[in-house]
Amino acid sequence: MKENMKSIGVIGGTGVYTPNFVQDAKEVSVNTDFGRVMLVQGKVKGRNVFFLSRHGKEHTIPPHMINYRANIMALHNVGVERIIATSAVGSINREILPHTFVIVDQFLDFTKSRVETFFSKDKVVHIDCTDPYCPELSDIIQKAMDKFHYPYLRGGTYVATEGPRFETRAEIKAYSILGGDVVGMTGVPEVVLARELGMCYATIAIVTNFAAGISEKMLSHQEVVENMREMSREIQNILEEVIPNIPDERHCNCGKVLNEPVDNHI
Ligand code: HPA
Repeated sequence: MKENMKSIGVIGGTGVYTPNFVQDAKEVSVNTDFGRVMLVQGKVKGRNVFFLSRHGKEHTIPPHMINYRANIMALHNVGVERIIATSAVGSINREILPHTFVIVDQFLDFTKSRVETFFSKDKVVHIDCTDPYCPELSDIIQKAMDKFHYPYLRGGTYVATEGPRFETRAEIKAYSILGGDVVGMTGVPEVVLARELGMCYATIAIVTNFAAGISEKMLSHQEVVENMREMSREIQNILEEVIPNIPDERHCNCGKVLNEPVDNHI
């Protein structure tokens, strides 16, 4: 029965380069209007999964060079309707400690050079982004966190920066005043593009460090990768638990973004 169910997409961020949570993995190449994308197709308890390594298998693609539109379109083209993304983040909030999982529910976008839309000609489209992350997927992720007793926060504001540099002390202070909780370089435009195609998208943000000026330590990419490595077993457990628990039919509004007004619980 699971064979006929819709495929799930997983985007692995820093530290999550291979889908160790799937069986029968094989590489597939997908052509899109924006370029070719390599995915790994496999199964989790019979459920079909397409995995994409956001930075490439060897972490060679920096945040500002990622072909976000090709990546999201490739997942869409192979029939994925729901995406779970992992994302290493720095904590802007002293109370959110390294090794905490954050199921983010909002973002602040400080990226500068990225194309955030599929609609640049022929049709003018303005999608609702009031609550950009899928609440149903986020609920399922939360249940997995509860099951494993992992430290997590449900809800949190993700600040997307352009990178590839880390932030200044003043930037982090400003983001904190604005209500940011965690900071990363890749969550936007991924979530926006997925939403434009009516796909569900949820992020498991993994806190690897305190952001600039919160920690007095100098930041390094190596520290981020090292901390992600320490969390890899937990991430695998979460994905193995979450993927089979995603129902085939959606009960959220993500698919309705382009068709009809979204009910924002007003
Ligand atoms: N800033 C931006 N991106 C990040 C950080 C950070 O401190 N940690 C992990 N990704």
